[in-house]
Amino acid sequence: MRDKGRIFAQAVIKVKEIVDGQGHRDDKLMAICLLLRDDVSHYHWVGFYLVDEDGKNLLLGPYVGQPTRHVKIPFGQGVCGLAAEEKRTIMVPDVSKILNYLSCSPQVKSEMVVPIFKDGHMVGELDIDSHTAAPFTEEDKDFLEDVCREVVKLF
Ligand code: SME
Repeated sequence: MRDKGRIFAQAVIKVKEIVDGQGHRDDKLMAICLLLRDDVSHYHWVGFYLVDEDGKNLLLGPYVGQPTRHVKIPFGQGVCGLAAEEKRTIMVPDVSKILNYLSCSPQVKSEMVVPIFKDGHMVGELDIDSHTAAPFTEEDKDFLEDVCREVVKLF
């Protein structure tokens, strides 16, 4: 993607505006999904998973993209469950290499999952799927972690 830095810098400002604006949390999360999908050409499925009351499962929250049957993911399963278990951002350049991958669509080639932390506890994750092979760089990671640092203000 050309000019990632400029697009990411502008998108973070727009995310802040959404977070600080009026509205309910889910509407704001949805607005952020739409913004990321529309502004970043290699983000095709963008969604939030929220940690359930038990703290052992991820529940699908607002998202844009193809419907997924993975509405409840136990910690440890798939890329989302791995990120939850290890409490770190996971970047997967090629999803076909992941043994317990939870496929949302055969078009997905790569994925990035960023945990959202509130006071040291994980409250959810931002999940991005791409139809492009290996499109994510450290710039994406830094950008999406910045986005999650804004999003956590909603929790
Ligand atoms: N691929 C994810 C599941 C979520 S769907 O992509 C929306 C995983 O392996 O955890």
